[in-house]
Parts: sequence; C-alpha cells; structure tokens
Amino acid sequence: MYDYRGIPYLDLQMWYSAVNFGYKNKPVNDAVRNQIDRLPQLASQYLHREKIELAAAISKQMQKSFRAKGRVHFNVGGSQAIEDSIKIIRKATGKTQFFAFQGSYHGRTIAASEITSSYRYRKPYGHFSNRAEFIPYPYCFRCPYAKRFDTCKYYCADQFGRLFETEYNSIVDTKTGESEFVAFYIEAIQGTGGYIVPPPDYYRKIKKILDHFKIYLVDDEIQMGFYRTGKFWALEHFGIKPDVVVFGKALTNGMNPLSGLWAKEELVKPEAFPPGSTHSTFSSNPMGTTAGLEVMKLLQDKTLASRINSSGKKFICMLKKLQKKYKEIGDVSGLGLAIRLEICEKDGITPNRRLVDRIFQAGLEGDLEYKGKKYGLVLDIGGHYKNIFTLSPSFYITDEEIGMAYKFLDELFGRFTASKHKR
Ligand SMILES: Cc1ncc(COP(=O)(O)O)c(C=O)c1O
Repeated sequence: MYDYRGIPYLDLQMWYSAVNFGYKNKPVNDAVRNQIDRLPQLASQYLHREKIELAAAISKQMQKSFRAKGRVHFNVGGSQAIEDSIKIIRKATGKTQFFAFQGSYHGRTIAASEITSSYRYRKPYGHFSNRAEFIPYPYCFRCPYAKRFDTCKYYCADQFGRLFETEYNSIVDTKTGESEFVAFYIEAIQGTGGYIVPPPDYYRKIKKILDHFKIYLVDDEIQMGFYRTGKFWALEHFGIKPDVVVFGKALTNGMNPLSGLWAKEELVKPEAFPPGSTHSTFSSNPMGTTAGLEVMKLLQDKTLASRINSSGKKFICMLKKLQKKYKEIGDVSGLGLAIRLEICEKDGITPNRRLVDRIFQAGLEGDLEYKGKKYGLVLDIGGHYKNIFTLSPSFYITDEEIGMAYKFLDELFGRFTASKHKR
C-alpha cells in the first residue's frame, strides 16, 4: 500500500482482517477480472456455478471442521448476514431474546446493533428489537470479576451458570426448564473487543449450559474466520460445535462485499427457512462468489496453517522483546496471526488510550525510516477501553517485515514514552 506521495506503508491490519492474502493477490484478482467479462452480475434468486460451488465448499469445510451438516446462505455485508442469522433463530424458536458478550461487535444495522455491546451505536435510533443480555467476556488480563486465572476455577463460567439456577435470575422458567433466551452470539475470539483469547475450557463449560436449556450457539467468524487464528474457524480451538456460523470480510480477500452464514440442517432446511426468507439483490453475486472460490482454493494450501502459526509466534516473540523495553506494554499475546498489544500506563494495567492514539496517528504520517527509505505504518485500535493494537497482518508477512514492524513500533514507543524502562 502506498500513499499519494508513493511512500510505502506496512499494513498490519489489512482492513480488519479482510485482505488476508495480501493486496494485489494475482489468482483472486485474475478471477474477478475474468468474471467481469463472463457474467458480472446476476440477481440473487438465480443460480450460477460459482454460487453453488462456493456454498458446497463452505459446507464441506464445516463437515471437516465440526462434523456438522447444514447449508449456506449468502448476503452482502457482515451485518446483513448477522441479520439473516437472527431471522433463522427467531423463525426456529419464535423467540427474540439473545445473549451476547460485553465488548462484542456484530455490526451496526439496526438488529445487529442490539447484540453489539456499545450503547453509542443504539442511542440515536431507539430499539427495533430486544437488546441482548450482555455477559462479561472471559478477559483474563483484565478479569471482570477481579480474579486470577491460576486460582479462579472458571468463576466467570460459573456465574453464567448461576443465571439458570432460579427463575428469579430472570432467564429460565425452572418449573418447565424453558429458557426465555434462545441464542448466544459469540465471537470465538473477540475481534473489535481487542483480540482477546478466552481460556481453553471456557466455551466447553458454557456450551454444556446452552445445550441443557436448548439455547443455540451462533459463532460470528466475520473477523476471525478463514485461518486468521491458524485454524479455519477460530471456534475450532475450543472443542465445541456451533449451530450457526456467520462469515464475511476475508471470504473474497476484500475484493467484493460478500458475506454469509452456515446453519445446521434443522434450522435452515427449506421447510424451516423457506426460499425468500431473506433476499438482497446483490447477495451471492458472481464477482464475489468467484473471488470466494479462489480464496477457498488458497485456503486448501497444506502449509498455510503452519506458516500462519510460525509467523505469529515469531511476531509475538519480537513484540515480547518490545514489552521488556516499555512498561506501557501490558500484554502481548495472540493466536495465529491475530495479535494484541495492550497499552497501559507505566503501572502495566491502567488503560492508556492516549498513547495508542498518538502512536496510531504517527504511524500514518509516513516518516519512519528503514534502510534509508521512508515508510508508514498502518495499525488498528480495538479493545473495551480502546487501548489495544489489534494486529492482523497479511498471511504472507515475511520475517523481514516482522523485523520492520518491530523497528517501527520501537521508534514510535520511544518517541511518545518518557524513557525506555528495564523491567
Ligand atoms: C465480528 C464482526 N461481526 C460483524 C461485523 C460487521 O461486518 P460488516 O462491517 O461487514 O457489516 C464485523 C465488522 O467489523 C465484525 O468484526
């Protein structure tokens, strides 16, 4: 990526993990170019080859990842696919009450805003539906219950279970065992919330409760899907099965707004969710589905997972060196190439949004130096306190580029912190 002066930028966020295979990716770009000449658009009620093949490829992948059978439905953007998933759950259950996490981001259309945690996004528009019941996220660095992971025994999961103990906790009719809540929307690894990886058994514990009360699990993989975390779906790290998976962004390597969902057969079969239940003129369009097919081919590369995991480890290792130099870096962690740097005051815990903003802005100026040449740096800011650099570099990031990232971040932290501190 270059700015208007021709200065190259090292992009460590790739449109919030949409362009995973890098800008100017030849196979994907060529496929889109060819598609323009062959069949550029087609209203979504008609079938075309790429749509069928892409739906089949994703369904097959779901069988591989979770041994789960179901069907795929496309839409245009992530938020719209979330809306479709809401319709599926409402249709199947006749109910409208959902759980979601504090710190969640599921989009900003009006129903998606009801399960996105920020009130700011709902405030001017009122309620179209019911806002979700927002459950504290298992965020161990900043535990919402002020516990420590080595001694907490998954207190947070137990607190979720407590909601179902008595009808007076407002969730369940304990006489019949019927829950008023019918789905839990999760991001297996919270994206905009700060690339926070939950502890290993958390979801297994939650899923037991959900299964007992017949509550569906909807896994939003819009930011973390398609190998960002080193597995096809981020949820695969946690040993549980979803009922619905929603995806978008990286499906087309950023070449076309195409999103979709997979739902298990009982929820999405035509008798349950008839054709026409949702529709958008450009959903499943030929340019998007052809790009998606090409991306699915790139994702079959057997060396991809090990490449992502080894680059991720190298990157985290470099950033941990940086953490030794600057007390303001409270946490460095990640999974695959979804990496977080949590920025704090010198105490290593109080969120330091100001420093994050200054470094972010300075990176965009394009005045960093590497081997005598000027460069810019593209970062992304996330987190419950907007104090986290959420890094999602290209899957093809090289060792040299990881070194450049270290050098640029070192320069920027040096510029805006009073001094370098030995820990
Ligand atoms: C996890 C998650 N869900 C939903 C969305 C909304 O997708 P879109 O911006 O394509 O509507 C996003 C976008 O950042 C996301 O990260």
